[in-house]
Amino acid sequence: MKSSSIDFKKLWKIVISNKDRIDSRVHGPEHWVRVQRNGLYICKQNNVDEDIIRLFALFHDSMRQNDGRDSQHGLRGAEYAKLLLNKEYKLADDKFELLYYACQYHSKHRATEDKTIGTCWDADRLDLRRVGIKPTEKYLYSDAAKLIVKENKWRRLEQKISNTSRFTNWWKKLLNYINML
Ligand SMILES: [Fe+2]
Ligand SMILES: [Fe+2]
Repeated sequence: MKSSSIDFKKLWKIVISNKDRIDSRVHGPEHWVRVQRNGLYICKQNNVDEDIIRLFALFHDSMRQNDGRDSQHGLRGAEYAKLLLNKEYKLADDKFELLYYACQYHSKHRATEDKTIGTCWDADRLDLRRVGIKPTEKYLYSDAAKLIVKENKWRRLEQKISNTSRFTNWWKKLLNYINML
């Protein structure tokens, strides 16, 4: 994991503590952690900005109001990211534009030519299995994500990341924190 100027631990605590979000196992922090894990795995092969991926994982479902049909949750998540920008974290304008777009449209089944946005959406879709849905290759952007689906190599996501001790330590601490809430 590359070093970042963003204090992600602080940011996660702020977003997790936000009272406007629903408490959900399907769309809550445990899902966000897996989206980040998936995104960082794809990142290694796509060479995209890790900060955007990590911010997307954190914000994209952060303002869901229910686990069902909530068509505006992406937009609300994008606006929440905007609200905290320059207060709790900094991001260059061009990068924030990508983050905002990725959050706003992540559930709108759009196609994208942008590898950063594509990586964000792949990371989210690769976690569809939590609700019993196998992602469809044609809705994925990156070769790395398509290969996992095509060859049923789901353990690859776990194994690659578990080799990164810094990440797993951080992840374990985060899960402990979530369990304390
Ligand atoms: Fe979503
Ligand atoms: Fe999601």
